[in-house]
Amino acid sequence: MRKAIWLLPLLASACAVQSGAQDKPLLLAPMPPEATAHPDKWPAPAWPVPRDAATEARIAALIARMTIEEKVGQIVQADIGSATPADAKTYHLGSILNGGSSGPGGDDLAAPEKWLALADAFYAASVDDSDGGVAIPIIWGTDAVHGHSNIVGATLFPHNVGLGAARDPDLIERIAKATALEIRTTGMEWTFAPTVTVPQDYRWGRAYEGYSSDPRLVSEYVGRMVRGLQGPADGKDLLKGPYVIASTKHFLADGGTLEGRDQGDARISEEQLRDIHGAPYVPALGEGVATIMVSFSGWNGVKNTGNKSLLTDLLKDHMGFDGFLVSDWNAHGQVAGCTNASCPQTINAGLDMVMAPDSWKAMWTSLVAQAKEGTVPMARIDDAVARILRVKMRLGLFEAGKPSSRAYAGQWDLLGAPDHRAIAREAVRRSLVLLKDQGGVLPIKPGSHVLVAGDAADDIGRQSGGWTLTWQGTDVSNANFPGATSIWKGIEQAVAAAGGSAELAPDGAYRRRPDAAIVVFGETPYAEFQGDLKTLQLRPELRAPFATMQKLKAAGIPVIALMISGRPLFMNPELNAADAFVAAWLPGSEGAGVADVLIAGKDGKPRFDFTGKLPTAWPATARADGPALFPFGYGLTLAGDRPWTALAEEPGVEQSDGGTNWFARGVPAASWSLRVMDGAGDTTRISSVPAKALSGRVTVTATDHGVQEGARQFAISGGHAAVEVSTHAPVELTRETNGDLLLVATMRVDQPPAGDAMLVFNRTAIPFAALASAPPGAWRSYGVPLKCFAAKGADMTKVEIPFRLTTEGAARFSLADVRLASVADVMIPCP
Ligand code: BGC
Ligand code: BGC
Repeated sequence: MRKAIWLLPLLASACAVQSGAQDKPLLLAPMPPEATAHPDKWPAPAWPVPRDAATEARIAALIARMTIEEKVGQIVQADIGSATPADAKTYHLGSILNGGSSGPGGDDLAAPEKWLALADAFYAASVDDSDGGVAIPIIWGTDAVHGHSNIVGATLFPHNVGLGAARDPDLIERIAKATALEIRTTGMEWTFAPTVTVPQDYRWGRAYEGYSSDPRLVSEYVGRMVRGLQGPADGKDLLKGPYVIASTKHFLADGGTLEGRDQGDARISEEQLRDIHGAPYVPALGEGVATIMVSFSGWNGVKNTGNKSLLTDLLKDHMGFDGFLVSDWNAHGQVAGCTNASCPQTINAGLDMVMAPDSWKAMWTSLVAQAKEGTVPMARIDDAVARILRVKMRLGLFEAGKPSSRAYAGQWDLLGAPDHRAIAREAVRRSLVLLKDQGGVLPIKPGSHVLVAGDAADDIGRQSGGWTLTWQGTDVSNANFPGATSIWKGIEQAVAAAGGSAELAPDGAYRRRPDAAIVVFGETPYAEFQGDLKTLQLRPELRAPFATMQKLKAAGIPVIALMISGRPLFMNPELNAADAFVAAWLPGSEGAGVADVLIAGKDGKPRFDFTGKLPTAWPATARADGPALFPFGYGLTLAGDRPWTALAEEPGVEQSDGGTNWFARGVPAASWSLRVMDGAGDTTRISSVPAKALSGRVTVTATDHGVQEGARQFAISGGHAAVEVSTHAPVELTRETNGDLLLVATMRVDQPPAGDAMLVFNRTAIPFAALASAPPGAWRSYGVPLKCFAAKGADMTKVEIPFRLTTEGAARFSLADVRLASVADVMIPCP
């Protein structure tokens, strides 16, 4: 192992490390003491996968034959959305992934056969040695994070937060085995799971990907999950069995960032780092987890992807990790001194494979040059390649043949197989946590007429959350989930089986007076950073079902509140209003598991009791650092009736939105404003309507969208005019840009502008021709990738004016919202 001998300040943001072998400076970020681990204070689990002489000799022989280009190819990972099999051959790529928004032929929802065919095509390209090079089969990594969750028809298990509530390590291993089998049907060898984060602040939009905020509970699960995916720790030729390789992520303290900010910074002591966030890595290493994904986030100001003390000194040298380290999506670009196109720092820090989804070609080119000139020492390159080859040999990849020829491939009856769905349904019922049970409303008696209300009752995408078919889990419909059951369908069937009847009315307007009502409500799907919240409150636009609960209650109908969410939120008003309250988390494809507990059998007895226990404390206010209402481990069982003392209904925080809705329902979010201006100094801030601006040339009124007066209409009589949404407290949008998010405005054109329309972002303007051709009177969301503005030089670190629409001549249009999202009805092309 190469040790840094001494550090010297060299450039403003980099240091030179003198390496024994050559005189080239190795670029490494400067390491403040508070971001330096002391490995001797950490546990050193025994690595269970011995190296064997024959394999090592085989690895050494391969490396000896490889060119620098071929070695670097093993290290660089590309996304299928940005690289073809021909690219994989030309650049000798050792790995590909499908990110949350990628699918064969650009189709997220492509049939499973297409995925397998693409796996074959990449494989064939990787082993084609007709040019005299080495033939090293490629591996494909996928986010099978709650089942094989990118694939239409797969079993979708509850997201990890729900599994944390289920308190059953055996169940976890069964889920892992079923998931591995389903992954194998489409030819992939590698899942970016399990997420072993230990979230400490549930404002974080990825908290649901973690089992619990309690390191012990997470640690009890991790080994079983890894074992279920990879098989026995000392197993060989995994591809002969029903296995894939796992990746515990995101190393380290992704769930410990300040204010729960995604990709943020964990400002914590080394003891907290070890005891809270490091704990799950001990069982993961004990099971020989083949890969570990390094977190986007940082520790005390240094991004982990560039932190040698964590990656090399601690994880590899001290804790004995002998698999390979993969980075996260362009995370290397966030390391001090790096860009998406070049980052010798991360390889020198100990990273073995760079996830360079769309930046792979530039990354490959720069790394080849850096390896040649010694900026990255050849010994480090060889070590990274050896680690990757060692894992490939453990898989038995060289002997496995093309993906479609391997065991389980193309066995479509395994995808969403009945016995897998049965495990998922069991997991759903085990994960339900009963928080309130007053008046003996549960389980619902046989023969009842049951109303199912709430906007989340018949929506499989919604009950499945993010990382479901699409990245954010948005833009899907029930038709995209063959074989799955919505919560409503499950209830309808169970009620009928018990001799009763059910009706669905999202707004609660029943046709026949029900004996009981189940109101299904809660969060809509989100994945990375779009799900970050400022306070622990349900977003305002999702609160309508509360009024439904109150209305039903006032009519004397017993109400059961069923909450779909990735986290506990401030729910005191709903808890007070409902007779019973159940936290259902994000159950996934088997909604029937909900009815299994809520609806009694024909004999009137419960078919299953509640067993779920809170995987983290439930808040008494919307403050993340506020008191708990229910402690970790809380969860009632059916007992007929429990007294309830009304809770205070003050959230304890100012009302606030999620943060990326700058303009919603026709009004700007706090600290944002809506203005009308002429660009020559005449500006009017619109704080109430109706309003006039530009000496009467512009009239602003309220118009309906979604809700009454949920938008603003601008009637312009002529001349140059601009409408903008802006702030004096600039926001940083770098990670959102990197994450392929769109700036989205929901608009209706009532009279197309007479002249040109432009969309201005900060100071960068692009044509908005779609406005002129929009069908009058129809609402459309218009999206532009943030990357378009970044490419034109917009400063994404300080965004003050994300939206300004300029028009020439008479026009009339309406604006409902301005926000960030991953999909839009109409894409405005990047100029
Ligand atoms: C996420 C990872 C994921 C990767 C590939 C990243 O942005 O943070 O969890 O595995 O993308 O989709
Ligand atoms: C990809 C995700 C990735 C994210 C990075 C998206 O475009 O589909 O897989 O995690 O970008 O932030």
